[in-house]
Amino acid sequence: MPALLFEPLPLRGVTLQNRIIVAPMTQFSANDGVAGDWHLMHLGQFAVSGAALVLPESTYVAAEARNTPACLSLYTDEQEAAVKRIGDFFAAHG
Ligand SMILES: Cc1cc2nc3c(=O)[nH]c(=O)nc-3n(C[C@H](O)[C@H](O)[C@H](O)COP(=O)(O)O)c2cc1C
Repeated sequence: MPALLFEPLPLRGVTLQNRIIVAPMTQFSANDGVAGDWHLMHLGQFAVSGAALVLPESTYVAAEARNTPACLSLYTDEQEAAVKRIGDFFAAHG
């Protein structure tokens, strides 16, 4: 049987271009929950690598839910803008 790694994978309404999926990896590198250059580099490398799907690390929607202030978060405008920067990179290069 031929390897399926580089074959498309239909998932409901989305078809992944291949079966390479990057698992979420907490980086503990956010600045009070705000993603920085590290996140852009860490996730961005996968955007340009050919992986079909990249799952970002656990992202917290309330300050009291975080394990540490270095946990990626998404409950302020600044945090939203920082995550958008990464999303924009994926849209342009992923
Ligand atoms: C250092 C590290 C950080 C991880 N961070 C997350 C995370 O933020 N969110 C999450 O859902 N899983 C996280 N995981 C779990 C991994 O994504 C993955 O599910 C786990 O390592 C099992 O993968 P495997 O079945 O390929 O061995 C983390 C794992 C490791 C080792």
